[in-house]
Amino acid sequence: MRAKSPSARIDALRAELDHHNYLYHVRDSPKISDQAYDKLFHELKRLEAEHPDLVTPDSPTQRVGGATLEGLVTVEHTAPMRSLDSSPELAEVERFMERIAKALGDDHDIAYVCEPKLDGASLELVYEKGRLVRGVTRGDGRVGEDVTENVRTIPAVPLKLRAAKGASVPALLAVRAEVVMPIDAFEAFNEKLIAEGKEPFASPRNTAAGALRQLDPRLVAERTLDIYVYDQLQVEPAGALGATAQWEVLEVLRDFGLRVNDLPLRVTSLDEIAAYHQRLIDARDELNYEIDGVVIKLDDLAARDELGSTSHHPRWAFAFKFPPRKEITRVLEIFPSVGRTGVVTPVAMMRPVEIGGVTVARATLHNREEVARKDVRRGDKIRIQRAGDVIPQVVERIPEKGKRRKPKFKMPAKCPSCGTPLIERGPFSVCPNSFECPAQLMGRIIHFGSRYALDIEGLGEETAKMFVEHGLVKHLPDLFELRPEQLVELEGFAEKSATALVDAIAKASKTDLHRFLYGLGIPEVGNTVARDLADHFRSFEAIRNADDEVLQEVAGIGPRMSEQIVAFFEEEHNAKVLDELLAKMDLIVPEAPAEGGKLEGAKFVFTGGLETMSRDEAKRLVEAAGGKVVGSVSKATNYVVVGDKPGSKLKKAEELGVAVVDEEGFRGLVG
Ligand code: IVH
Repeated sequence: MRAKSPSARIDALRAELDHHNYLYHVRDSPKISDQAYDKLFHELKRLEAEHPDLVTPDSPTQRVGGATLEGLVTVEHTAPMRSLDSSPELAEVERFMERIAKALGDDHDIAYVCEPKLDGASLELVYEKGRLVRGVTRGDGRVGEDVTENVRTIPAVPLKLRAAKGASVPALLAVRAEVVMPIDAFEAFNEKLIAEGKEPFASPRNTAAGALRQLDPRLVAERTLDIYVYDQLQVEPAGALGATAQWEVLEVLRDFGLRVNDLPLRVTSLDEIAAYHQRLIDARDELNYEIDGVVIKLDDLAARDELGSTSHHPRWAFAFKFPPRKEITRVLEIFPSVGRTGVVTPVAMMRPVEIGGVTVARATLHNREEVARKDVRRGDKIRIQRAGDVIPQVVERIPEKGKRRKPKFKMPAKCPSCGTPLIERGPFSVCPNSFECPAQLMGRIIHFGSRYALDIEGLGEETAKMFVEHGLVKHLPDLFELRPEQLVELEGFAEKSATALVDAIAKASKTDLHRFLYGLGIPEVGNTVARDLADHFRSFEAIRNADDEVLQEVAGIGPRMSEQIVAFFEEEHNAKVLDELLAKMDLIVPEAPAEGGKLEGAKFVFTGGLETMSRDEAKRLVEAAGGKVVGSVSKATNYVVVGDKPGSKLKKAEELGVAVVDEEGFRGLVG
């Protein structure tokens, strides 16, 4: 039946396509053939091409945008995305249930929902008035990366919600989901990479996570991704789902057209949980997506609120992990392999074996002591296990009677890559030549330019590899000597991109002390420790010259960490390279906090993007004035600073009567 106007026909086609999409992805019961679907789709495409003014962003034709993104933008989650407490032991599950029973009072009839623990990439999806407005990676749980354009390409993600039975579409619905790559798609994708002479991915999880962070949405669309939604993060108005239990939440989310896994089960006893766990272990290899355990969630939502969360995980949920999969094979060779941080790992090359649907040919033996303890040698029969990644671990040697064995494996005295004598750090053998050893150099360059370090746009894995292979960068400081005319010689570079990268490197030579510290890749020094060190010492030389005792004055730095930091700075090659780096760089040190500053003790919350400064800069300004930046709005908050496209925090501030200022007002406050 043809509607009269193109606009009405377009509306009808969209509704029909949305409906069939829902039947296919959410209900797993398609009612029309792929060909029939394509026919409707092409009719819609044709009509939209004839009437471009009628194209809307949520039309089924508008999943794959044309433009490549410049980079990913960091955004705050509507609510923190916490992790899960976990264990593979049933006794730990029992303790979890006991804690809950105790907290809620024994008279409660406590129900739990068991769900498969999907081994993918965690994602926040935000729908405003039923329209998909944002997809954000988990990041550090508080902020993640905006990957909306990529998420839109996943066919199972509805661009708009359906009106559910008994519940109208809420003004705001933020949910938590897992993006997974189907195993068959993963294998096909890896085969293609290998055929093209490229490195295959380690696991479906890595491939999915990598796909989400691609800058070109068209490439994402190529990697058939799937999604399962499993929890609410934020709903406005509160209670709009009309659900009082997780079991109902899953049902409502499904009614809204979101894809929900069909394996969850509502239970009330430990026995049922154990049986469900075993059932999923048995079903595991039949599924077309990776799972690595069972997530047990308290069903009653009000009781969840009562229990609350620690900073790491909610008290109402627990992950009952699966034991790793095991297989038997034989060692063909053991060789030392130098990793990015200089740790030399003995790796066993094995007779290839299939384990949980993936063929593996190498396994790690971790370190010198492990090889000695397990006494694994060339030719031995071994048992290996695989957790999530393709690279498994050697569990044990399987003795064979009367078999003559090869000599013991011996760790070389010198680095197999650069010849520097290895040093022993506990059970590990380490090449101390951090910035010049060719095996470490490429990784060092990538890390130095990464997001939380110098954040050099365009300096990715491929580029770093070419720099090292073509001898353009022999040690880290060479990075600042690169010239555009050298880069244009490399594959993938033209004059414009070469100049852009050289400019980006030059610009990054002026950077925050903590970014520089983190970028050095000192063992144990992550993002947070780097910040703490920078804030405490406020000078690179002071950190470099600090001894164990002085370092341990910083909260959170213990003897293990201080020892590694001191050793890093004492190493001769490192010291030389650091001097060279410092001569080429300009480090910005944090300002001293103003004592009794006019904002002493004031708490700030930021929402939305700032125009004239980054969040990092804003935070520094607040701290320099004696204030503090916190993540969420409460009565104790003094100011909420509103930027472009503010989130729900603005509303919360208004509800609680907290002072709201814009960027200009903020500048006035901090002077
Ligand atoms: S609920 C605050 N349910 O497991 C509770 N998480 O190891 C949030 N995950 O980062 C988690 N399947 O990405 C939940 N059915 C499921 C899950 C699940 C996989 C992931 C999640 C989390 C990780 C923790």
